[in-house]
Amino acid sequence: MCGIVGYVGFQDAQTAIVSGLKRMEYRGYDSAGIALVNERGIEVRKKAGKIANLVQELEDHPIAPSHQGIGHTRWATHGGPTDENAHPHLGATGRVGLVHNGIIENFASLAAGLAADGVVLRSQTDSEIVAHLLEREVLVGHSLVEAMRRTVVQLRGAFTLVAVDAQSPGEVVAARRSSPLVVGVGQSEMFLASDVASFIAYTREAIELGQDQIVRITPDTVEVTMFDGTSAVTRPYHIDWDLSAAQKDGYDWFMRKEIFEQPKAVADTLLGRIGADRQLVLDEMRIDTAHLRTIDAIIVVAAGTAYHAGLIAKYAIEHWTRIPVEVELASEFRYRDPIVTSTTLVVTISQSGETADTLMAVRHAREQHAKVVSICNTNGATIPRESDAVIYTHAGPEIAVASTKGFTTQLIACYLLGLYLAQIRGTKFGDEVQRLVEELGSLSGKMDEVLDDLDGVLGLAEQLRDAEDFLFLGRHVGYPVALEGALKLKEISYTHAEGFAAGELKHGPIALVEKGLPIFIVVPPKGRDQLHDKVVSNIQEVRARGGRTIVLAERGDADAAAFADVFWPLPIVPTLFQPVLAILPLQVFACQIATLNGHDVDQPRNLAKSVTVE
Ligand code: F6R
Repeated sequence: MCGIVGYVGFQDAQTAIVSGLKRMEYRGYDSAGIALVNERGIEVRKKAGKIANLVQELEDHPIAPSHQGIGHTRWATHGGPTDENAHPHLGATGRVGLVHNGIIENFASLAAGLAADGVVLRSQTDSEIVAHLLEREVLVGHSLVEAMRRTVVQLRGAFTLVAVDAQSPGEVVAARRSSPLVVGVGQSEMFLASDVASFIAYTREAIELGQDQIVRITPDTVEVTMFDGTSAVTRPYHIDWDLSAAQKDGYDWFMRKEIFEQPKAVADTLLGRIGADRQLVLDEMRIDTAHLRTIDAIIVVAAGTAYHAGLIAKYAIEHWTRIPVEVELASEFRYRDPIVTSTTLVVTISQSGETADTLMAVRHAREQHAKVVSICNTNGATIPRESDAVIYTHAGPEIAVASTKGFTTQLIACYLLGLYLAQIRGTKFGDEVQRLVEELGSLSGKMDEVLDDLDGVLGLAEQLRDAEDFLFLGRHVGYPVALEGALKLKEISYTHAEGFAAGELKHGPIALVEKGLPIFIVVPPKGRDQLHDKVVSNIQEVRARGGRTIVLAERGDADAAAFADVFWPLPIVPTLFQPVLAILPLQVFACQIATLNGHDVDQPRNLAKSVTVE
C-alpha cells in the first residue's frame, strides 16, 4: 500500500503535492518522491525514509516552479526502500514520469523483454518497467491517454498508475485496476490521490474511479474512459469527513480500518505467486531448492500475534510436508540452547521486521549454520535483511498497535511456504497443491462475507461490555485462534481473557467456569469428524456449568448450533484455512468492546507497535 498523488492547476504544484503526501504518510513511509513538469522538462526528487527527508532534499535542491506533477509515498514491495527504488520513475529518455501503487505480477517477463531491447533499469522495482513501457508508446506519437491504454493491457496484477509527460503541459493521466484512486475536483485545479485525505484541505468534491478506468485531468476537466476506450460511468460525491476521519477512510480507528482491509491484504499477498505452469512460485525464496530438500526440521520463531500465526503454520506445514515443526517464542528461543543444525530451517514471522527478540533468534540460528526464512510485512527491515530468504506479506503499513491484517497475511505466507516445500519435496501432488492454492484464492471473498455480516458481533459486544472475564477455546488450528482472540481482547480492552486448548479444559481451566461466563468456542469444520464432535462435547461441558457459549462454526453446523447461546456462522473452507475466517469476528468484537469502554484502540496503554528491546 503506497500513497499516490497527481496535481494540475493554478497552485504551486510542489506545495499541493507535498502537503497531500504528508496527509497520506500513514499509507507508506519508507521513501517518498515527487516529479514536476516545468520548462526544463521533468524534474524528480526522491529520498528513502520519511517525507521529512524529501522535504529536506527539495530545500537543498529546489525545483523550478510548476503547476503539474505527481508524488508518491512508498511502502516497498519490489525492491528495498532506497533512493533509487523510490518513486517517481522515469522512462529511458526522461520524457515520462510515473508513480505506481500495487504489484505487477508479470514484472519478470516484462523486464526480460525490456532488457532484450537494451533498456537498462535503474531500480529493482516493478514500477520502473511500467514507466519504460509507457514512454515507448508516447515516443511513437500516442497521446498520454492512448499510451496508458496501450500499456495497461500489457500488465497483470493490481495497480494504480499516475503519469506525466514532459511534452504534454497541463494534464496528468492515471489508470486503476484493483487498487484505489479518487479524483478531487477543485476550482481551476484537479487532484488525483489514493484517498481523499490527500486533498481534503483543498476540495471536498470527489469522483470515485471504478475498476479498469483511465482518467485524464486538466485544471478544468476530468475525462474518464474504460481501458478498452469506451465511455465510463463515474460517481461524483461530497466528502463530509474531517481530516482524521479521512485518513482512516471514515473508520473510527485504524484498527477497524485494518480489519476491513484484510480481504484485500490477503488477496495482495497471494498476487504473483502462481507461475504460468500453475506451479507455486516464491521468487523471494533465495534458498537453493536442493538444500530445501535436505531440511529435516523446521523451527518457527515469533512473538505475540505472529507467534500465534506460527502455531497455526505448524499444523499446515507438518501435514503437507511431513517435516517436524516446532514453534518457539522468540524471547525463549536462544536461551534454551535449541538444537539447530545446518539442515534445520528456521522460519521467523514478524510484521515489523524489527522485533528485537525475533532478530536475536535470527542471528542465533544463523550462527548455528541454519538457513533462515523470514515472513515480514516491512520491506528492507532488519530481520529480512539479515535472513537468507524472505516472504513478504503485502498488507500495507499496519498503524494500529493491535495486529490484525498482519496476522491474516502471515497465515497466508505460512500456507504458501508449506505448500511450496510440499511441491518441491514431492509430498503433495501438483494438482493437490493447485487445489489448495485455489482454495487460498477464494478466502478473500469469504472474508468479505464474514465482514459484511457483523450485526451479531456488535450487538454482543454491547451486551458484554461490562463482563470482567472471558474464555476462548479451540482445538487443532482453532486453539491458536482462541489464543489470538484472547490476546486481542486483553491488549485493547484491558479485560481478563484466557485462551485454552478445548481438550485441556478438563485438566484444570474448567474450574473457572461459572454462571454467565462468556466463552468463545472455535469449532473445526465437520469434515474433521472426530475433532468436530470432541469440540461439540467441550461446548456441552461448559454450558452444563452455566457458561454462556458463543460458538464460531461453519455455516449449517446444526450439532454445534444446538449448544450455542450465540452462533456465529463461518463460510465453509478446509480446516487448515479456517483461522483466516474465524479470527475476524473476534478482532471486531475486541475492537468494539474497547471502543464502547472508551479506550484508545489504536494506541493501547503500555504497548508499542514495534518492540525493539529484548
Ligand atoms: C499484538 C501484537 C504483538 C506483535 C508482536 C510481534 O496485537 O501486535 O503481539 O504481534 O509484538 O511483532 P512483530 O510481528 O512486528 O514482530
